[in-house]
Amino acid sequence: MRSIVINQPDDWHLHLRDGKQLAMTVPASARVFARAIVMPNLANPIITVSEAECYRARILEQVPAGRHFDPLMTLYLQDAMSTDEITKADAHPCIYGCKLYPAGATTHSTRGVNNIEFIYPLLEKMANYEMPLLIHGEVTDPDIDIFDREAVFIDRYLLPICERFPQLPIVFEHITTKTAVDFVSQAPSNVAATITAHHLLYNRNTLLAGGIRPHYYCLPILKTEEDRQALLAAATSGVPKFFLGTDSAPHTTIQKESACGCAGIFSAPCALESYATVFDAHHSLDKLENFASRFGAEFYRLPLNTQKVEIKQQEWQVPAVVAAGEDKFIPMCAGETLTWQAKPILTG
Ligand code: DOR
Ligand code: ZN
Repeated sequence: MRSIVINQPDDWHLHLRDGKQLAMTVPASARVFARAIVMPNLANPIITVSEAECYRARILEQVPAGRHFDPLMTLYLQDAMSTDEITKADAHPCIYGCKLYPAGATTHSTRGVNNIEFIYPLLEKMANYEMPLLIHGEVTDPDIDIFDREAVFIDRYLLPICERFPQLPIVFEHITTKTAVDFVSQAPSNVAATITAHHLLYNRNTLLAGGIRPHYYCLPILKTEEDRQALLAAATSGVPKFFLGTDSAPHTTIQKESACGCAGIFSAPCALESYATVFDAHHSLDKLENFASRFGAEFYRLPLNTQKVEIKQQEWQVPAVVAAGEDKFIPMCAGETLTWQAKPILTG
């Protein structure tokens, strides 16, 4: 039986939601991940340090006994946010970055940024503190084709931000295109990117295979096979700019299976296993540890985890449905048999 042991990985992009859903989402990620960058796009977004502190406490209440899981908190940038909040965030030990959602780009982003130039004073402060800026990189202009929104964002906004703030650590989140891979590869070392398991596994045909499949709908939307191949090459390249961020984003079956379904793929129940599957198919399992357990920590200037996780070639079935109270969630790979299974190696 083939098996690898790696340092415990971290998830550098995660949606845990709030309230009773935390009892399901937190254990699903704490199962294998040691830390996660927690997205602030709640229905009432996390816009202050004190809101982030309270949210973190609610998350920690749901960590299963005997497991360690460190939620790394982020703030949601807004046009009118004060630079004092950035100063407070920098001084706070639990805040690791600020997230830029262009207003209207995705789930719970209506209170995001309307004009990126309005937040330049915030970005200047962050650059001074070397605090990471996490970016949902899609334009919201309805005239731009949905498949081009990431590439247009690079030209219109990301390039000017990178040029104006050369000290600012930037994570271009959940990149989906060859254009984004090329941009990040050529950018200076302060610019990195997360890559999801679903964008490595699927292309846009999956979304419409034999009918419309709402559980594969996410933003940025799945792209072409050529894009997927470029992402796979980047993830397995050993280049430290590319690291794991699942963007696991649960919505209830009612919210997903709707005439206007929500964007988001709930991958946490099988995320690490899915990365292992796709890295193995690419004959690059030896590249998984750095991608999952090293490069992100180094970018965020955090120590590597010391606990280990074993990933074994062993069949197991992903649950068809996961419940949280009365709510039901369909995870990625629901009901499928995966051939890699991850388990933490528990030490004292
Ligand atoms: O598919 C997505 N779901 N993309 C995002 O950017 C947000 C996320 C969510 O919060 O549901
Ligand atoms: Zn996300």
